[in-house]
Amino acid sequence: MVGPRRPQFVLFGSSIVQLSYSNGGWGAILADIYSRKADILLRGYYGWNSRRALQVLHQVFPKDADVQPSLVIVYFGGNDSMGPHSSGLGPHVPLNEYVENMRKIAVHLKSLSDTTRIIFLSCPPVNEARLREGTSGIFSELVRTNELCRNYSEACINLCQEMDVKVVDLWTALQKRDDWLTACFTDGVHLAAEGSKIVVEEILKVLKEADWEPCLHWKSMPTEFGEDSPYDLVAFDGKTTINPSEWTFHREIQWD
Ligand SMILES: *[C@@H]1O[C@H](CO)[C@@H](O)[C@H](O)[C@H]1NC(C)=O
Ligand SMILES: *[C@@H]1O[C@H](CO)[C@@H](O)[C@H](O)[C@H]1NC(C)=O
Repeated sequence: MVGPRRPQFVLFGSSIVQLSYSNGGWGAILADIYSRKADILLRGYYGWNSRRALQVLHQVFPKDADVQPSLVIVYFGGNDSMGPHSSGLGPHVPLNEYVENMRKIAVHLKSLSDTTRIIFLSCPPVNEARLREGTSGIFSELVRTNELCRNYSEACINLCQEMDVKVVDLWTALQKRDDWLTACFTDGVHLAAEGSKIVVEEILKVLKEADWEPCLHWKSMPTEFGEDSPYDLVAFDGKTTINPSEWTFHREIQWD
């Protein structure tokens, strides 16, 4: 534990979360945007479905923790939506059960504190042709189709509307780009930098528009140790100093 404490934002989900610090990923971008404002904590588990999430939910988010997260961004669904395997093994979770699992996750997260906010990310599309190319002998019968992704995405969005949970419709957001099939993924499933930028834009939009008190949009949050100092660089007038603590011009993209 290092101090002073900053608000904690937890990214909880499957591979799209675990890999989100790689390849210009959305987790890394959020960590940059929220530097000196919030700690972005990665709790991503490659290949997991919502059943596995439920198994560890209370360990990852203990109810009696001293500090509860200010924001939890949750993504499960990509693996759940894969077709069932004839052996009964594998990541598939039937749609109705997926929805009930996500409901339990939302109920638990809401119970952590009055100010723990939640954003769900719905299931993004995949590049089906690319996936078919990559089919290897290691995995048998794993079926991943956009029809399935869309159904799981829609079910997640409906649940969020019913439960008054904020949601990013990743299914739709990624496909707004004409070249989404080639631009958004590294391997047909996982997000490339271009796909991640869309995820960040959508998350920031939610954070900006939500009527949450306190606001969790980065521009509204205090910058740690951001006060003026005589040790900063001296201005042209030779009498004052220039405070760099809120500078953002190093960023390729000026996020809003
Ligand atoms: C689901 O898990 C498999 C590995 O078991 C992985 O290859 C796939 O990319 C995962 N998909 C998502 C969207 O999490
Ligand atoms: C997706 O949902 C539609 C409408 O509910 C349904 O007709 C279709 O069978 C579903 N597709 C799959 C692959 O489950």
